[in-house]
Amino acid sequence: MKTWTTVREWQARRTELKGSIGLVPTMGALHAGHGALVERCRRENDIVVVSIFVNPTQFNNPSDLERYPRTVEQDLKLLASLGTDDVLMPAAGELYPDGYRLRIEGGSAVEGMEGAHRPGHFQGVMTIVLKLLNLVRADRAYFGEKDYQQLQVIREMVRDFFVPTEVIPCETVRAASGLALSSRNTLLSDAGREGAASVYRSLTTAATAEEARRMLDAEGFAVDYVEERWGRRFAAAVLEGVRLIDNVPVGEEK
Ligand code: PAF
Repeated sequence: MKTWTTVREWQARRTELKGSIGLVPTMGALHAGHGALVERCRRENDIVVVSIFVNPTQFNNPSDLERYPRTVEQDLKLLASLGTDDVLMPAAGELYPDGYRLRIEGGSAVEGMEGAHRPGHFQGVMTIVLKLLNLVRADRAYFGEKDYQQLQVIREMVRDFFVPTEVIPCETVRAASGLALSSRNTLLSDAGREGAASVYRSLTTAATAEEARRMLDAEGFAVDYVEERWGRRFAAAVLEGVRLIDNVPVGEEK
C-alpha cells in the first residue's frame, strides 16, 4: 500500500495505473462501515484508492472540526489489511491551493435537513468530492447510505457536471443495537452509545415522523429534525453534545 501526501506525486502515480479504479473518500477515524465500503470497492475494481482528509470546509462548527476523531495509524493498518492499493492523505493546502474561493453551491438536494441545519456543509462536501473525483478519475466511488442526503447531493453534482464516475451507494452498517456506525460515536460515553440506538429504534418503530420525534424528545435528545423524503425517514438529534444522523427506508424509494 502506498500513501500520497502531495497532489503532484499522486498525479504522477495516477498516470501509471491500469485497470478499473475504485475510490472510497473518507475523513478517517475508520470503522466497520468504512471497512465495508473498502471491501466492496476491492471486489469490484482492480485498484482501490482511499482518501483520508478531514475536510475543513464542510464543518460549519469550528469545535466540531477540532474534536473530530483522528486515528491515522490505526486507519492505515485497517486499510492495508483490506488490500487497499493507494491512500491519498494530502494537507489542506494541497487540496485548497487558493483557499476556499472556488466552490460548488448545489441544487435541490442540498435544501432542508442537513442543508438547513448545517449552513455551508454541503457546499464544502461537494467541492472536496469534486476535487477528489477529478484527481482520482475513478470508475466507481463508494458512499454510505447513512449520509443519505450527502449521497443525493453528490449524485446530483455528478449528474449535472457530467463526472464520468459511477456513484455506488452502500447500505448503512449498524451495531447490534441498531446504532448506525459513525466516527462520531467514539465521542459518546458507553451509556450514551446505548442510548443513541434510540435514533434507529424510533425511526423504525414509530408510525409517523411526528411520533418518532416525540419518542426522541421524551428520551432527552435535542432533536434537529425528523422528516420523510426520497421514500426514507430521516432524523438528526444531539445526545451528550454529539450530533447523530440516521435514516431508514419507508415505503417506495424515490
Ligand atoms: O462522508 C464523509 O466522510 C465526507 O463527507 C466525505 C464524503 C469524505 C467528504 O469529505
